[in-house]
Amino acid sequence: MQPAENTPLEQETTIDMKDIVALCKRRGFIFQASDIYGGINGFWDYGPLGTELKNNLRDYWWKSMVTTPPIGPDGTPVQIVGLDSAIIQNPEVWVASGHVGGFSDPMVDCRETKKRYRADHLIILIPNDDTPWLATIEDDENFLKARLKKVGKGKSLSDFTQKNLTEVELTDFDKILAPHAKTKGTLTDPKEFNLMFETGIGASQDDKVTAYLRGETAQGIFINYKNVLDSSRVKMPFGIAQVGKAFRNEVNPRNFIFRSREFEQMEMEWFCHPDDSQKWFEFWKSERQKFWQQVGLNQDNILMRDHDADELVFYSQGTCDIEYKYPFTDPDFGELEGIANRGDYDLTKHQEHSKTKLEYLDPERNNEKYIPHVIEPAAGLTRGVLALICEAYTVDPNRPSGVYLNFTPAMAPKKAAILPLTAKEDHVPTAQKLYLELREEFAVDLDIKQNIGKRYARQDEIGTPYCFTIDNETISDGTVTARERNTMAQERIALDNVAAYLRDKIKP
Ligand code: GAP
Repeated sequence: MQPAENTPLEQETTIDMKDIVALCKRRGFIFQASDIYGGINGFWDYGPLGTELKNNLRDYWWKSMVTTPPIGPDGTPVQIVGLDSAIIQNPEVWVASGHVGGFSDPMVDCRETKKRYRADHLIILIPNDDTPWLATIEDDENFLKARLKKVGKGKSLSDFTQKNLTEVELTDFDKILAPHAKTKGTLTDPKEFNLMFETGIGASQDDKVTAYLRGETAQGIFINYKNVLDSSRVKMPFGIAQVGKAFRNEVNPRNFIFRSREFEQMEMEWFCHPDDSQKWFEFWKSERQKFWQQVGLNQDNILMRDHDADELVFYSQGTCDIEYKYPFTDPDFGELEGIANRGDYDLTKHQEHSKTKLEYLDPERNNEKYIPHVIEPAAGLTRGVLALICEAYTVDPNRPSGVYLNFTPAMAPKKAAILPLTAKEDHVPTAQKLYLELREEFAVDLDIKQNIGKRYARQDEIGTPYCFTIDNETISDGTVTARERNTMAQERIALDNVAAYLRDKIKP
C-alpha cells in the first residue's frame, strides 16, 4: 500500500518514524489493517502487545475518571459515572449535533502533483512583487525553509505577507505555487468532504435506512444525560465517561496511527452550573495534564495550548489542546487531547431536536432550572498509544537490540519476563513454576527458546521493565538474576522473593 501523502516518512527528524513503525510491526504492536491484501488506508490492527498497551492506557484513564476520580476543589472526590453507548444511533442525533451537514473539512487538490491538502492548513506567502505566491504547509517550519530556499528567488520570510488559504480570493488561486508543484495555478477550489461514515440499517436493499457510524463518543453521552440523571444518584456537578471506537472518513489519513479513519477516544463530559464552568475548565486542564505525565510523557514534550479567540468554534467559551511533540511534528507539537468549555450548546441542540426537556432542577440552588454547561476533556486513546510509543522509544547503541522502549511499569505490556538460561530440564520447570506464580498478579512472559542475549533484546524492544533468569545457581542456591531494562544492571535475588521484588519495583 502506498504511504499516505505528506507522511513523516518524507521528513527528516531526530527519531525516524520509519524505525518506530518497523518496530511496531516486528514486535507485534501495530499492523497495517488487511496487511495480506495490500492494506487499507487509514485503518490499523493492534497486535498482541499493542492491544495490551492500549488496554493499559484505557484502564488507567477509566481508573482516573470513574474508579478513583480526582479530589475536587471542595476536598471531596468528584462524581463521574461510566457509559457504553451504541456506535450507531438514530441519524437525527448527528443532525442535531451538526455532524451531518457540518462535520467536514474543506480540501484543495493540486492538479499537477495529485496531492490533497486541508485548505485551512495551507499558508500563502504573498510577495510584494510579481514572484509567485508560495503555498506552504502550516506548522512545518522545515518545509517552509526548504521551499523558500528552492523557489523563493533569494527572498527571506520578511519579504512576504502571510495569509491562510481560506482568506485568499478564488480569483487569486492562479498566482499560487502549490506546496509540491513546479508550476503555479494548480490548486483546485476548496471542496467540502463530509467525515461521517455512512452505513445502512436493514437487510433488504430496498428499505435500507441511512445511518452513521459515530464520529465521536461524546454524542452518546449527551443523549444519555437524562437517562443517567434519572437512574443514578448523581447530582450537579458530575461527569459521564466513555471509551470506544469512533469513525471519520478522514480525507488524508496520515502519520501512522495519528490520523486514522477508525480510532478510539476517551471522552468525559462534565456537567455543571453555568456560573462554575470556567472554574471546572481550569480544574480539568490541570488534571488532564497530570494524567499524561503519570502515564510517562515527559513534561518537556507536552504543550498546553489555549486556543486564540479567533480559533474557537462559535459556541466554545474556551478550548485548550494538550499537544505532544511527536517525532513527525518535532520541533512543533500535535494534538493529543482537546479540553473544551462547550457551554450549553450540545444539550440545547438535543433538547430542540428531540423535543425532550434536558433542564436540570437544582435543589442546592433554590430549585433553579438550567441547562448545564459542559466541560469536555476529549482524548485520543489510539493517539495516546502513539505518544507512549514515541516517548518510550530510546536509541541505545550499547545494547544488542540498539533500542529499547522505556515504558513506565504501569503501561508496559509485560511487567517481567521469566527466562530459563537454557532449555535444560531443571531450568525450565523452575521457570514454569515461577511463571505460574507471578502471572496470578502480573502480566508476565515466559520465554524459553533462543540464546539469552536475543531474549533480552526482545524484552528490551517490547519494553519489559524486568527479566528474571533461572540458571544453575538457581538450582543450587535458590537465587535468580534480576535484570533491569534501562540500566541493564543485574543482581541476584532469592527465587522466593521475586514477587515481592517486582511488586516493590513497579508500584506507581
Ligand atoms: N468530542 C470532541 C472531539 O471529538 P476532537 O478534537 O475531534 O474532539 C478528540 O477529538 C481527540 O480524538 C483528538 O484530540 C485526538 O486525540 C483524537 N482523534 C480525533 N480524530 C482522530 C483521528 N482521525 N485519528 C486518531 N485520533 C483522532
